[in-house]
Formats: sequence, structure tokens, C-alpha cells
Amino acid sequence: MKPGASLIRHYLQFKDLRAEEYAYLFERTRTIKTRFKNYEKYQPLVDRTLAMIFEKASTRTRVSFEAGMYQMGGSVVHLTTGDSHLGRAEPAEDTARVISRMVDIVMIRTYEQSMLERFAAHSRVPVINGLTNEYHPCQILADIYTFIEQRGGPRGGTADPRDCPLGGAANPLDCLRGKVVAWVGDGNNMANTWLQAAEILGFTVHVSTPSGYEIDPHVAGVRDGGSYRVFKHPLQACAGADLVTTDVWTSMGYEAQNEERRRAFVDWCVDEEMMAVAKPDALFMHCLPAHRGEEVTAAVIDGPQSVVWDEAENRLHVQKALMEFLLLGRIG
Ligand code: CP
Ligand code: NVA
Repeated sequence: MKPGASLIRHYLQFKDLRAEEYAYLFERTRTIKTRFKNYEKYQPLVDRTLAMIFEKASTRTRVSFEAGMYQMGGSVVHLTTGDSHLGRAEPAEDTARVISRMVDIVMIRTYEQSMLERFAAHSRVPVINGLTNEYHPCQILADIYTFIEQRGGPRGGTADPRDCPLGGAANPLDCLRGKVVAWVGDGNNMANTWLQAAEILGFTVHVSTPSGYEIDPHVAGVRDGGSYRVFKHPLQACAGADLVTTDVWTSMGYEAQNEERRRAFVDWCVDEEMMAVAKPDALFMHCLPAHRGEEVTAAVIDGPQSVVWDEAENRLHVQKALMEFLLLGRIG
């Protein structure tokens, strides 16, 4: 039942998949989401088990992976640092060897990317990055699917809200080419992953971070300047953008820097002025959880350009497509 080692595909960074595989995944997401909205049972993963390992807190990632696996007919084992031997210094390599003999797929949220890489190197089954200090590929998968849903073709084209069009384009990635995503805030795991996505899918990221919190292209794993431009002021980054996005000032694991970050990031709050210089139909996204009045104003996140609730919901649908792809390959 377990796939041979040479056939295993992991999803540890956004660049682990190619553009044409993303085009396939987004089409599968559309099919899976439409079936779900129409209350059609779809259970290709009966008898499959997902192990979820959380070394950091989560709401969306936990619920979307757990609900998604059950909806596809499988089951889930949930582990945290505190209730497993990971918290008592059992090496990631040994944990991977054991867990991957018992389950079919593993999702891990942890601190260093290197822990995830070591786990994957010793796993017999696919491993998915559920967020590390360096990357958050499942979130960007959902964000890009959300953008395609919103901007992939004529808007409001469906009479039935349970249908989930991708805009009717021959290739769901077409609507991304040449687009500008403005990143306002920390040069963190989300920012790094946006840069990887831009390089693979052919759009540009305009980045503005406070001094001292810049993106490191080496950590991001992209060519310096290849698919992104850096701006001193967030308004410059937002000018003409198709999508404005941000994230918390202090990511999980960096709480000791909270006070200095509050001071450094005070001008990196996405507000109405920033949205006003973006394109008139620009979208606003935030991976959540959000802090209104810090990285974004309530008027923006709760305003008409914000798609944060669709963005959060789409975690469920894209991850179901991802798990299906990693376990079963291409369908049809
Ligand atoms: N966006 C995101 O990953 O949310 P959680 O931390 O709640 O999982
Ligand atoms: N950058 C944030 C994302 C949370 C989903 C963090 O790592 O805490």
C-alpha cells in the first residue's frame, strides 16, 4: 500500500511543484470544491491516514487538513510537541521512520525548515509543510487559487453560488502572468513563499519591509531581484498592484521581539490610502490570524476589496487536491 521511496513526492517548499503541476492542482481544486459545495460525497482516500504534527499553534491549518482528510474518507492522527516524544528530544529522523510506517501522509508545522527536511529525508510517505519559520506553501497555494477564482475571467459569471468557476480560461495560470502582488510588512515565511510562487508562475512581487526585516533571497530560495522589486515605502509597493497582502508583525517563534517590532512596523499598516493607490479592482489578502489596527486597518480587512474569508476557506479545497495528488497522482 505504501508507495516506493523513489516515487514519493513531498511538498516542503512552493518550488517543489512545477507550473504545469500547479495548473493541474488548481483545476482539481475547482472540481473538488464544486463537489463539496454541491454536497457530493467524494472519498478517494478511504483507509488512508494523515498524521499532523504541530509544534506551533494553529486554527486554519488544523481544521482544514483534519476536515479535508475526513471528507475524503480518510482519518487523522494529531500530535503536538507537548504530547509526543518530539518534545522530549526524540530525533526528527527516528520519529519520521516510525510514523511513516504507520500512516500514509504527514503534515508538519514546526520552527526550522531543516527539521522538516530531515523528517522528509527519513519518511516513507509524502510530507507536507504546514508552516515553518521559512515558508508557508499551503497558504500561498490557497491565496493563488483565490486570486484565480476572483480574477480568472469575467466576474460574477455564475448564477449558482455552489458552482466554483475558474473563470473559463484554458489555463488557470494565465491570469497571473504580469500581475503585481504588493507585500507590505515582515520579510517572513509568507513573503519568502510569495517570491517562490512569483518565480514559478510568472508574476512580480513588490516588497516593502521596515529596515532590518528585509527578505533574504538566499533564505527565500530565489534569484536576487529576479521576480521581485524592493521599495522603501509601502505606498510605492502598493502603487498599481493587483493584490495587496500583509501578515502579522510578529510571527510565531519571534514573540520575544514583539515590542521592538511594534515600533519598527508602525508605518507598515495596510490602510485605505495604500489600497487607493493600488489598481481600482485590487484585492486584499491576509493569511490570518489578523490584528486589526496593527498590520491592517479594520476598514481594509472588513472592506469590499478583502477576500480573506474565501482565502481561508480555500485552504480546505487546495489541500484536498494536494493530498489527492501526493497520494494518488493525477486523476483521469
Ligand atoms: N493561516 C494559517 O496558517 O492559519 P493558522 O495558523 O490558524 O493555521
Ligand atoms: N507569519 C505567520 C503566519 C501565521 C499563519 C507566522 O509564522 O506566525
